[in-house]
Amino acid sequence: MIAEKLQKHIETLIRAQYQRIEKMKEDKEFIDYAALSPIVVGLIGGDGIGPFITNHTYQVLKSLLSKELAEGKIVFRQIDGLTIENRAKAARAIPEDVLEEIKACHVLLKGPTTTPRAGDKWKNIESANVAMRRELDLFANIRPVRVPEEDIDWVFYRENTEGSYVLGSHGICLDDELCMDFTVTTKEGSERILRAAFDYAVKSGKNRVTAVTKANIIKATDGKFLELAKVIAKEYPSVEFDDWYVDIMAAKLLDPKRRTQFKVIVLPNLYGDILTDEAAELQGGVGTAGSANLGKRYAMFEAIHGSAPRMVDEGRAAYADPSSMMRAAVMMLEHIGYAQQALELSTALDKALVSEKKMVITGRQDGATSQDFCNYVIELLNESK
Ligand code: IPM
Ligand code: MG
Repeated sequence: MIAEKLQKHIETLIRAQYQRIEKMKEDKEFIDYAALSPIVVGLIGGDGIGPFITNHTYQVLKSLLSKELAEGKIVFRQIDGLTIENRAKAARAIPEDVLEEIKACHVLLKGPTTTPRAGDKWKNIESANVAMRRELDLFANIRPVRVPEEDIDWVFYRENTEGSYVLGSHGICLDDELCMDFTVTTKEGSERILRAAFDYAVKSGKNRVTAVTKANIIKATDGKFLELAKVIAKEYPSVEFDDWYVDIMAAKLLDPKRRTQFKVIVLPNLYGDILTDEAAELQGGVGTAGSANLGKRYAMFEAIHGSAPRMVDEGRAAYADPSSMMRAAVMMLEHIGYAQQALELSTALDKALVSEKKMVITGRQDGATSQDFCNYVIELLNESK
């Protein structure tokens, strides 16, 4: 009986994964933003502190892109339905109508969304992030971390559609005694993230890629990822390549003598999740870190952190740090071909967060509000004109 249940379950999962592989093989071309007019940017507030920091980032973008907006080259579209209340009510990670609205955009700027777990007041639905990354096939999660005074300049290429995440809601408890989860590595899925990392290493002149796995223990899936990394490294002779296990990598990110050698770091989904929070902490916290989730047709930009329900419960939502979203907005502008505006915004953020620091966000009443910080950034942008 148990064997039968397991067999049926696994067969369904395997079939779906082979279908995904076929789909990945079909999707070859990247969208060309230069050919689009207007570029439609979906603004998703999400929950918790999400609507606050998304709105403040939008205000900054409206000021920065006033010309492009007036000329109709860029259009912003509000998408409101991705709240935990709505998702729980629909018992879907992303309700159908919201997914349709999302898919009608070209790129998305997304606030954090609450991810329930067993025992929460919400139904234990799948994470909206994981669902969106899967539905839009956003395979490359790119997370830069910079601490110039420490000579840290890292760019993480986190695989975003496989690993422990893809079947994270499809594990199985056979009975009260035994539960199993599944981890997936595909050749196609690994190659595309590895190539993205190596291409970036060449294009950026960083010329160094580090793969992170636990291939000595997780032999099939991590083993495959590492084996493919070594094969692809050979296609890029100008790029120095090495590999580390995730445990010692977590330690070495804290070693001032070693860590400056890391440049581009490519890694499976879960390790990317964990190490990027650690890395962001060195930069000033997860509240300062933005990320790009890139696919061939869609791209989504977001903070690397969650919706911080604790901040909302404690009445501190207005004091949340919007700079993670603003950094994500810089990445979005770069991605859609607005390099000049991206540079203007990142320069203003560097000034606000590193050199001037006239307004410091602490996440509490003793710091600046997200709105004050937003106004300060707009002021800096106007000064530089
Ligand atoms: C992240 C977040 C998400 C993840 C959560 C919110 C599902 O931690 O983007 O790193 O685990 O990927
Ligand atoms: Mg995370």
